[in-house]
Amino acid sequence: MAAGSSTALRYAIVGTGMMGVEHIQALQTLPDTHIVALCDPHAPSLAAARNALGVNRDAARVYTDVETMVAAGQFDVVVLASPNHTHRALAEPLLRSGAHLLIEKPLCTSAQDCKELILLEHQTRQPGRVVWVGLEYRFMAPTMQLLAHARSGVLGNLRMLAIREHRFPFLVKVQDWNRFNVNTGGTLVEKCCHFFDLMRLVLQAEPVSVFASGAQDVNHLDETYGGRTPDILDNAFVVVDFDNGARASLDLCMFAEATKNEQEISLVGDLGKAEALVTQGIVRLGLRADGWFQTNEQSVSNAELPSAIQHQGAHHGSSWREHVAMQQAIRHHTPTEVTLHDGLMSVAMGEAAHRSISAHRPIAMSEVLL
Ligand SMILES: NC(=O)c1ccc[n+]([C@@H]2O[C@H](COP(=O)([O-])OP(=O)(O)OC[C@H]3O[C@@H](n4cnc5c(N)ncnc54)[C@H](O)[C@@H]3O)[C@@H](O)[C@H]2O)c1
Repeated sequence: MAAGSSTALRYAIVGTGMMGVEHIQALQTLPDTHIVALCDPHAPSLAAARNALGVNRDAARVYTDVETMVAAGQFDVVVLASPNHTHRALAEPLLRSGAHLLIEKPLCTSAQDCKELILLEHQTRQPGRVVWVGLEYRFMAPTMQLLAHARSGVLGNLRMLAIREHRFPFLVKVQDWNRFNVNTGGTLVEKCCHFFDLMRLVLQAEPVSVFASGAQDVNHLDETYGGRTPDILDNAFVVVDFDNGARASLDLCMFAEATKNEQEISLVGDLGKAEALVTQGIVRLGLRADGWFQTNEQSVSNAELPSAIQHQGAHHGSSWREHVAMQQAIRHHTPTEVTLHDGLMSVAMGEAAHRSISAHRPIAMSEVLL
């Protein structure tokens, strides 16, 4: 295995549950891309991954632990898609292996673990080795269009970003790992790292403080696992102040599946407003100079997605775009678009929000990043 720029890339998938299979489906459509190893201790997950590989299933060696897979080698890129609380430990042998690495979000369940991984990456760094964090909401077509408006300057000085996610409850996962904060890092880390990442990306600024209110009011209260009731928050408001004076908010509700759009993002500058309605694939742009209630509405296109990905609908093709961009970075040394630092900051903002809920006060980012 090598952190070089070979043409054909051999992939290993570690954690072949729901997200591992989504990665397999995306990778299968890319040229010069071969899935050569699957690693998961859960036999049904391995069977599902082999099924997703179809006629290529016998080209992938199967492992039940990462150490054995690393010892066998023969891969160039690893996708780490195991549960959140396993990322820190599993990433260590993978970083030492020298392979390129995509780590699913959240990078780790705490800012401290993220910082330790960043240190380890420095210690094991090899020229040309790409380490990428799977914050793929950056690669959804409506978010990309919103970002294009933000970057074009048409909105002027960006002042307010409001992100609303109103959606269905957490899905059932293998061995129910996502029912407990100790495994996920808490909902505002697990789920909302995506949105904290978008806030930094859109506003091109760093968070200074976080204030939040939230609770577990509705979901999973009638479930028990080994005698324990899930403790994961299902609704919250979060307000973030940024170092350039901009502010952002997150409105999360996970018992709101009766909605038109899972995500609604609104960005306002001193010259105008842009909105992204993610499920509908609509982006609106309104400029103050054009008068009240004048907006230009545009349907975003997923035309570049291979038809197999368009029909799956999983994360609106963002996993596929993420892999295309990561392969560019590996093969052509373009910048890593989603860095370990981005992973750290998105986790730290979620951790700050959870601390704010417990402490009933704003939390300075310096308290979490110490
Ligand atoms: N980018 C996104 O939008 C997105 C969406 C969903 C999930 N995720 C992330 O992907 C990861 C996996 O989530 P999922 O929904 O696929 O969960 P899942 O429960 O469906 O799958 C996780 C798999 O990891 C396996 N696993 C557990 N311990 C392992 C180990 N030590 N080595 C190898 N495999 C191991 C499990 O057996 C299971 O098959 C999580 O970090 C989650 O937060 C990201």
